[in-house]
Amino acid sequence: MKAAYDEEEAADYADTHWLKQLIERRTRRHQFGDVSGRVLEVACGTGENFRYLPKSADLVGIDVSKPMLDRARKRADGLDRQVELEQMDAQRLSFADDSFDHVVSSLSTCTFPDPIEGLNEMGRVCKPDGQIRLLDHQEPVSGV
Ligand SMILES: C[S@@+](CC[C@H](N)C(=O)[O-])C[C@H]1O[C@@H](n2cnc3c(N)ncnc32)[C@H](O)[C@@H]1O
Repeated sequence: MKAAYDEEEAADYADTHWLKQLIERRTRRHQFGDVSGRVLEVACGTGENFRYLPKSADLVGIDVSKPMLDRARKRADGLDRQVELEQMDAQRLSFADDSFDHVVSSLSTCTFPDPIEGLNEMGRVCKPDGQIRLLDHQEPVSGV
């Protein structure tokens, strides 16, 4: 694998980066563009998804990293959208059970020390008739 990156990927990476971004943007819009009600974004990072989440949604974003949240705040302000941001561990959400109509998260579970715990927490805070929308690049985990 390393050899493949050394020989091909390093040279091509910058050239194909715009295409990766285009695919990623389309996927984010497709996955999150129609959420509604009270919405929790878990591990929101710098707020990359904010532009794809409808402005009518009552959006709460959490992330464990303060510097990421600082950037997310700037992005939300730049987009002129209301977002409640809190520093929080996805594996121990401080919200009550059944608090959200939608729970969304992207490129996150692979970074959690215990992804199953994070997914269980998303399930706990999502209303029984709500939806969890994920965008990730690892195989589904069992035990959730
Ligand atoms: C690869 S970034 C993805 C950020 C954003 N979701 C996106 O799609 O661009 C992973 C994010 O997960 C956050 N994160 C990692 N572990 C976390 C945890 N235990 N609880 C909350 N956030 C966490 C990191 O701080 C980082 O912002």
